[in-house]
Amino acid sequence: MIITSHSSNPFPDNVDQMFTHCRMATMAKGNYGIMKNAALAVSGKKISWIGPMDALPETLGTIKVTDCRNQWILPGFVDCHTHLIWAGSRADEFEMRLAGASYADIARAGGGIFSTVTATRAADEDMLFDLASRRMARFLRQGITTVEIKSGYGLDLDTELKMLAVAGRLQKACPQDVSTTFLGAHALPPKFAGRSDDYIKEVVRIMLPEVKDQGIATAVDVFCENIAFSRDQTRQVFEKALALGFAIKLHAEQLSDSNGTALAAQMGALSCDHLEYLSLDGARKMADHGTVAVLLPGAFYYLRETRIPPVEYFRNLRIPMAVATDLNPGSSPVFGMMPVLNMACLLFGLTCEEALAGATINGARALNLADCKGSLEPGKDADFVIWDVDTPADLCYLTGITPLQNVVIGGKTAYVMA
Ligand code: NIG
Ligand code: FE
Repeated sequence: MIITSHSSNPFPDNVDQMFTHCRMATMAKGNYGIMKNAALAVSGKKISWIGPMDALPETLGTIKVTDCRNQWILPGFVDCHTHLIWAGSRADEFEMRLAGASYADIARAGGGIFSTVTATRAADEDMLFDLASRRMARFLRQGITTVEIKSGYGLDLDTELKMLAVAGRLQKACPQDVSTTFLGAHALPPKFAGRSDDYIKEVVRIMLPEVKDQGIATAVDVFCENIAFSRDQTRQVFEKALALGFAIKLHAEQLSDSNGTALAAQMGALSCDHLEYLSLDGARKMADHGTVAVLLPGAFYYLRETRIPPVEYFRNLRIPMAVATDLNPGSSPVFGMMPVLNMACLLFGLTCEEALAGATINGARALNLADCKGSLEPGKDADFVIWDVDTPADLCYLTGITPLQNVVIGGKTAYVMA
């Protein structure tokens, strides 16, 4: 039975929970999509109705009601780019960079990504799980409800599989949804020094098929850069990944222009990420192929880069912009989305609306999850956050506080601010 309401949107009869008297930024279609004096209904794990308070049926019967007292509901943040599983610390490299060393200098001297590889190889699976689940708990308290997690601190089959196994355990143990990416081609392990083609063969012939057999990743990423892998090596990894049925994405044009973006876009990548050195040609290829631009201002900030991604190209060519934490111990030890929103606005020049769309609906697009995540719309997963703010722009404007009240994931309250 459908209870008729004043809204054009019929009120469903299977509602379990209502969130009433709220303001909402639905972020549908990448706009704020503001609704005031509104209500949101949840049926099971899904949002089943959104509408004005005066369109609610007169009695709500046994439906559980949460009065939001005019607070704001936004979609949970979708963090579409993280390296959340690692052991060890790189605070020493932070100090080295402050003293003048560059990220690339440190990498070439055997530190950087490889220093985390050494610590991650030495850690057992339980220890990695323990470290990573604490990071997931921090993310939850920051309103992040979907998390992409990459491997890439193993660079040998066993450790890459160990990292992906940890990601699988996080998916089961934590309330957030986890999307897992294999990043075997993140850096060249010292054992293969001077033989990067041989390492790529190992990734293609041994690692990718094993990851596929174990069903522990949905996407494959590569770091295409002069301190990592070439365009041709990227192509080899992607060809095999696509043949095995993985989605692909790329760390591209972060420190220089290798034109990896054009290749990735033409091969159907979901996203290209970083993009500080992206050319107009690369941007055009992204536009032609519907590739999402994932902006990572945390890495830009921590590495004290000076060249910002070409936001005007993205706007003019209507390329969706996502923003993500890039959480990792080297270039972006950033444990929440609010600092990233702030940096996206102040460092990259995004509007607050663009930044919030980047951390919600466009993050979901970058993970191919836009049919179920990233905006408040009937039929989508009931993943949302109640914020005690005056306006959604506060989430970009304020730093040093997280004015969050409740986090709901799949219709269940996953966190309540004490
Ligand atoms: O996205 N650029 C390559 N990968 C990471 C950094 C990883 C690290 O430094 O440990 C990034 O910034
Ligand atoms: Fe990254």
